[in-house]
Amino acid sequence: MEDVATAERMVAVNLAGALTALRLALDLFDGSRPGRIVVIASLAAYIGSPESPVYAATKAGLRTACLSLRPALAARDVGVTIANPGYLADKVADGAASWRPFAMPADEAARRIVKAARRSRAEIAFPWQMALLVRLLASLPVRLRERLYARISGDPVARDA
Ligand SMILES: NC(=O)c1ccc[n+]([C@@H]2O[C@H](COP(=O)([O-])OP(=O)(O)OC[C@H]3O[C@@H](n4cnc5c(N)ncnc54)[C@H](OP(=O)(O)O)[C@@H]3O)[C@@H](O)[C@H]2O)c1
Repeated sequence: MEDVATAERMVAVNLAGALTALRLALDLFDGSRPGRIVVIASLAAYIGSPESPVYAATKAGLRTACLSLRPALAARDVGVTIANPGYLADKVADGAASWRPFAMPADEAARRIVKAARRSRAEIAFPWQMALLVRLLASLPVRLRERLYARISGDPVARDA
């Protein structure tokens, strides 16, 4: 699990900071001009992450808040696109998972996010292989999901849980 300082910073930046931006959008847009907000969550928002539980919690919280705010923002003619990337190939942070299947270059991820925003998509998740796996895992009972995740990823943390 992330140390306390890292966890507090993640909550402040990933969740509180992003929610402040969304609140500002609610205040700024009055329906007289259209807008679109693009929020970067993560596939970790769907099922969590044994390596980075606080990170996953911030992304799940952000995704849920965006889904909750969509109707109020739509009433002001502001759309919201939630992007849920899997692993990015050239962005390996300290403490990140060593198992990074289907990792995608950041510029390819950015292209997909821009395309989704231009098409007014509510939500996108990619790469499709990981998005499918995550959705499948999310639909399973927790213990079965944990066993499957451990088997697929070889993650000792998940295997011992
Ligand atoms: N990397 C992955 O595998 C991965 C996977 C799924 C989702 N994501 C998500 O995709 C997004 C980009 O990830 P990344 O790996 O490209 O991250 P990154 O390289 O670390 O970039 C993070 C960005 O956030 C900015 N930032 C950090 N702290 C800030 C603060 N306190 N106030 C304002 N801006 C701040 C940074 O600005 P500076 O450049 O000025 O420091 C930087 O532009 C993140 O939301 C991440 O959670 C990443």
